[in-house]
Amino acid sequence: MPSDLSPIDKAKFVAAKKATEFVQSGMKIGLGTGSTAAWLVQCLGELVRDEGLRIKGVPTSSRTAQLAREVGIEVISLDEAKWLDLTIDGTDEYDNNLNLIKGGGGAHLQEKIVATASDQMIVIADATKKVGTLGAFPLPVEVIPFGWQTSKTLIEETLIGMDVLGQTSTLRMNGDAPYVTDEGNHVLDLHLNRIGNARQLSLVLNQIPGVVENGLFIDICDKVIVGYGDGRVEVQDINAGEVEKTRFDFLDDGNLFSDDMQ
Ligand code: 5RP
Repeated sequence: MPSDLSPIDKAKFVAAKKATEFVQSGMKIGLGTGSTAAWLVQCLGELVRDEGLRIKGVPTSSRTAQLAREVGIEVISLDEAKWLDLTIDGTDEYDNNLNLIKGGGGAHLQEKIVATASDQMIVIADATKKVGTLGAFPLPVEVIPFGWQTSKTLIEETLIGMDVLGQTSTLRMNGDAPYVTDEGNHVLDLHLNRIGNARQLSLVLNQIPGVVENGLFIDICDKVIVGYGDGRVEVQDINAGEVEKTRFDFLDDGNLFSDDMQ
């Protein structure tokens, strides 16, 4: 573990490191996508290599699948796994009820399927992801390429009747071409600013023809592990209703020392 990481990377790293404490040998684990989830995959790879941890991973994107294989994690498909013990993933936003906006990395379709097929979902995040109300981060909606402009119009018309502050959307681009997901679809980013009723919005969006899945994760996440740049970690559990606090210290030899703060 390099000690010269930026504060934000330290925050992501300690959140990921703490999450590995919930992983046991023999488990089937959903592996999230994004920069925070990448730390998790690296930490798990280290445990597989150095401590003989035996896990099977179901990646939520082709990027994560590649990284998982590189670090020595056995990769299986969701259909092979059928059901997972635990999914660990990052997020773009989370609120007090542990509802999420995901899909900044364009992988929310696979992420939602994998998390929903798990006994438990743990989100790992830095403190910038916490919000009072969801919606400042543009809400990703995966749409099929056929007639995507019609889907866009239908979504914007639908938003007029919803409890949101903005009603515009933009097609996500990759350079000069539309972004293409692992499933061959496009992503519309909805600029809502504030989502008053996320549960209702999620249900309504998924009724619109052409929409495959939106990035709202409602009642899916069980725990959020939030990391800070100084090594502090907090675990918020939706069922326990309490926050566990730990602190990781970065030692000179690159190892970590953890201290229960309660
Ligand atoms: C990808 C996601 C990511 O989890 C989300 O975008 C957070 O990414 P990062 O950890 O890089 O901030 O939902 O679809």
